[in-house]
Amino acid sequence: MRILVINGPNLDVLGAREPQVYGTMSLWDIENRLKQRYARVTFEFYQSNSEGGMIDALHKAMDGSVTGVVLNPGAYAHYSYAVRDAVSSLKVPVVEVHLSNVYAREEFRRQSVIAPVCKGVIAGFAVRGYEMAIDYLLQQD
Ligand code: DQA
Repeated sequence: MRILVINGPNLDVLGAREPQVYGTMSLWDIENRLKQRYARVTFEFYQSNSEGGMIDALHKAMDGSVTGVVLNPGAYAHYSYAVRDAVSSLKVPVVEVHLSNVYAREEFRRQSVIAPVCKGVIAGFAVRGYEMAIDYLLQQD
């Protein structure tokens, strides 16, 4: 079982970045927690601060070699039609995840242009949101 986990811009500085909003875990901490908790899963982790990097990472799921994708698009969630189109071209399910509750924050964060082409969205549960997404991908419906 292979799962692709893609994190977008500014998520490489988790832990140091606004810890009151995003928590104190680094991205490395999050990835290690997932690896430990889901020992039977082969993870492919990608992080990019650029739209093109995220799209290239999404294209890796086009060959059907992964069961699904956990995607935290960062701010691109709110305006990137290019990332949306890349998600839309995948046959495997993509779960959009946000560490923070984007609906309880600034107005511009309440819209995701990617959510309509995702299987679902999980927001506000920090690292547990990634785990909920993986739990879904392991079972699917
Ligand atoms: C985020 C929420 C986005 O609005 C923000 O731009 C991020 C992080 C989250 O995980 O809560 O970079 O995706």
